[in-house]
Amino acid sequence: MRAASAPGKVILFGEHFVVHGNPAIVSAIDLRARVEAVETDEEAISLEGFTGDNPASSAASYLAKKLGYRKGLRLKISSQIPQSVGLGSSAAIAVASAAATLHLIKGVIEYPLLLEAAYEGERVAHYTPSGIDTSVAAFGGAGVYTRSEGYRKIDMRLEELLIINTGKPRKTGDLVRRVREFSEAQPERFRELLEEAAGIAEEALKSLRKPDLETLGKLMNRNQELLRLVGVSSREIEEVVRLCLNSGAYGAKLTGAGGGGCVIAVADYDRIDEIVKELGERFSVMRARLMAEGVRIESQPDNP
Ligand code: MEV
Repeated sequence: MRAASAPGKVILFGEHFVVHGNPAIVSAIDLRARVEAVETDEEAISLEGFTGDNPASSAASYLAKKLGYRKGLRLKISSQIPQSVGLGSSAAIAVASAAATLHLIKGVIEYPLLLEAAYEGERVAHYTPSGIDTSVAAFGGAGVYTRSEGYRKIDMRLEELLIINTGKPRKTGDLVRRVREFSEAQPERFRELLEEAAGIAEEALKSLRKPDLETLGKLMNRNQELLRLVGVSSREIEEVVRLCLNSGAYGAKLTGAGGGGCVIAVADYDRIDEIVKELGERFSVMRARLMAEGVRIESQPDNP
């Protein structure tokens, strides 16, 4: 038996635009998904408590096929990451499953193969992911991701932020399709927005290194405006963003695919608990620690 765990994530800047070639900035968070893989004699891959396609079974099946593994596997998922709200649950499950399976079959984690299998797993939920979520789940920390160059870790000094769940689940694939439709209907406008989003990410990198929370907040607000323009904000997101700003946050934006899901906000660290209390009356709110560790094999099988 092998067990592995991988972290969820927040995209700080650049979601959606990353699908179209832009850089995005992402950080692992201190919520993890854990997958256990047990060898069986059944010559099939089964998943406790799930039927049909799932990121865990797809990633494991991909590896079993590629490595010519002849036995069966029974997988079991346990996760602290809420699903379908932009925190990278599918990618973390896919990465943890790929790591547990790889380690069981080969005794080591080979990262290129792990990423390949996890990408296949994430496709179950996303259809055409950029690869940012699986990269940060695998390597952890914080980094810049582009489709052409992959994940490069950055030296970031922002340690904590607020995550507010609007309570509205949605499908990443549907929102990615919505942005693609926008890009096809208004190519010129979309190119301008891509350029502006790339500029925001570049400025944000400087502020994240200090960290300059006030400037980061302003950049988040501008990034949120761009996401609104391409059609992935929602009434719930706008309301939560407004409440965060009224409660003293420097800035707030949707994170991940949008359309509902989670909002992130930056505020002075000694103000965060107060905002959690204020917004916590209506929403599920957490104070999240950033730059969590990437995928790891669990030596204590029962602890995620
Ligand atoms: C999802 O976490 C981020 C998106 O940019 C999609 C992707 O990059 O795969 C919306």
